[in-house]
Formats: sequence, C-alpha cells, structure tokens
Amino acid sequence: MLIHFGYRDGISQPKIEGAPVPAYAAPHTATVKPGAFLLGYPSQWQGFRYPVPHPPELGKNGSFAAFRILQQHVSKFEEYLTQAATESKMNREMIAAKLCGRWRNGTPLVQSPTTSVPSPHPNDFDYADDPHGHKCPFDSHIRRANPRGEVVAGSDGDQHPIIRRGMPYGPRYNHTADKDDGVERGLLGLFICVSLEDQFEFLMTNWMNRGGFRSELPSQTKDIIAGNDAIGATPFQVPTPNGTVALPNFSHFVTTRGAAYCFLPSLTALRYLATL
Ligand code: HEM
Repeated sequence: MLIHFGYRDGISQPKIEGAPVPAYAAPHTATVKPGAFLLGYPSQWQGFRYPVPHPPELGKNGSFAAFRILQQHVSKFEEYLTQAATESKMNREMIAAKLCGRWRNGTPLVQSPTTSVPSPHPNDFDYADDPHGHKCPFDSHIRRANPRGEVVAGSDGDQHPIIRRGMPYGPRYNHTADKDDGVERGLLGLFICVSLEDQFEFLMTNWMNRGGFRSELPSQTKDIIAGNDAIGATPFQVPTPNGTVALPNFSHFVTTRGAAYCFLPSLTALRYLATL
C-alpha cells in the first residue's frame, strides 16, 4: 500500500506463533507469542499472561488498539527533502530513504544501501550487520520503531511488538505542483497490542519521543515521522564512514487530528453480547 509521503507501507508485521504467516515474513524470523496480541495466552514475557478483563466471555481473545487520525503535511515533507539535499549535498531520494529506513518502494536500506533495487524479501533483515548505522540511521523511522532485537535501554528491542493496520485518507498529493494545496490528507492507523502501556505507549514514549534508549541518539531527539510536535525542532543524524552528517532540524510533518484507545472484542465475545 502506498501512503502519502510516497512510501510503501504494510510490509513489516509480527509473525505470531500458530497464526497465518504475514506476507513478507522471513523464514527465520522469530515468532511472537499470541498473548502479545490476544488476552488469555502466554505473552512475550516469559511465564506471564496479561489479566483478562471480566467477564471472561467478553475479555478472552480480545485485544486493544490505539486508533490515530494522522494528518500528513506532504508539501512540508517534500520541501524538507529538497532543503536537506541542498545543505547536505546528498541525493534527495537517498535522504527520503534514510529518514524512513526503507526506499520509497519499500526496499530496506540494510539490504540495499545505495540503490532502490526492488527486494524480493523486504522484511528479511535485522541490524546486526549495521552496528554503526552507516546503512540505516539509528534515527530512521523503522529503526526507532522496531530495533529488531538490538539491545537497547530497558529491555531487548523485540519485546514491544505491535500489529499495524493503516489506510490513507484524503486525495493523493500532486507532486508535480510542488506546493501546499491546502487539502487535508493523512493516515488512519490502528496499532494493535495486548497492552497499550507496554507496547504502543512504551514505543511512543521511550523510542519515538526520546533518544537516550540507545547511546548513539542524544536524548533530545524524536522520530522524524511519529515524533511529538511539542518536543520542538530536533536534528536528524546520518552516520557515514566519513563522520555524521546532520540534516537540518525538523519540527513535525504529522499532526495527530484524532485519537482513541479501543477494546477489540473477539468474535465469540460479540456472540456473547448478542445473547444478553
Ligand atoms: C502518518 C504517520 C506514519 C507514517 C507515514 C508511517 C510510515 C511508515 C512506513 C513507510 C513504514 C515502513 C513500512 C513497513 O515496514 O511496513 C513504517 C513502519 C513502521 N511504523 Fe510507521 N508511520 C507512521 C506512524 C507510525 C506511528 C504513530 C507508529 C507508532 C506505533 C509507527 C510505527 C511503525 C512500526 C512499528 C513500523 C515497523 C518497523 C519495522 O518493523 O521495521 N508508525 N511506518
């Protein structure tokens, strides 16, 4: 699925033990326990199940979701790419890839650091071969949102998985016009997990809106896509073998226009409700 900043989305999804395998899952990717997403089963924490709300007929097999209406400022994002390319003398599309961690066609930078050649297995990677971030910056959206088993502060970086479902809203931005058309567009996002606190909120608070969870990122930094507007302007660091290139400070390219925390009942729970 193509989303408004021009990236392909919906590639990376957790592989859940006992569930159908997601489209781009790599054969050797570790599975996540079903209880990371469903109430009543062993969770990602050894020996721990999240408590099922009462009555169990309603709670068991249920889940939670953070719903977000995320307005995307596409012309501002494109202007930033142009400005960053001019100041850093890096290729504009390369900058777009560095910001996300994937080229706009979805090819991950760790697989293909210099060209956007399509990848047959775009989710078959981790960061073990890129310890200095020369391929995929530590600041990139996907490396902040999912360190894929890298050791980061507080826990290993694979204990906070979320299932993402997204859908663009609003008309497609006309890239040839290259200016703000004043029309609202963005992404409707559902971030599904068994614990909003330990998964969605953990990820937003400790990884997206704070840098200190890993030594390479100063604490006063935030995610370029999902970081909080209120933090103000922060830099984006691109590590290279010749030193770090600091892209211009950015404030925000996404505004949260709506939000809700939801309980997602199971089909059996819906049937139970119908009998009441
Ligand atoms: C308008 C806002 C957003 C845009 C445009 C956006 C865009 C993207 C894109 C292009 C990808 C790469 C495709 C993929 O790996 O499937 C991605 C991955 C991801 N995003 Fe976002 N995103 C947005 C908001 C968020 C928010 C609010 C969160 C917070 C939970 C988030 C968490 C993630 C995660 C966990 C991944 C997968 C990383 C991985 O497993 O490698 N994103 N996003």
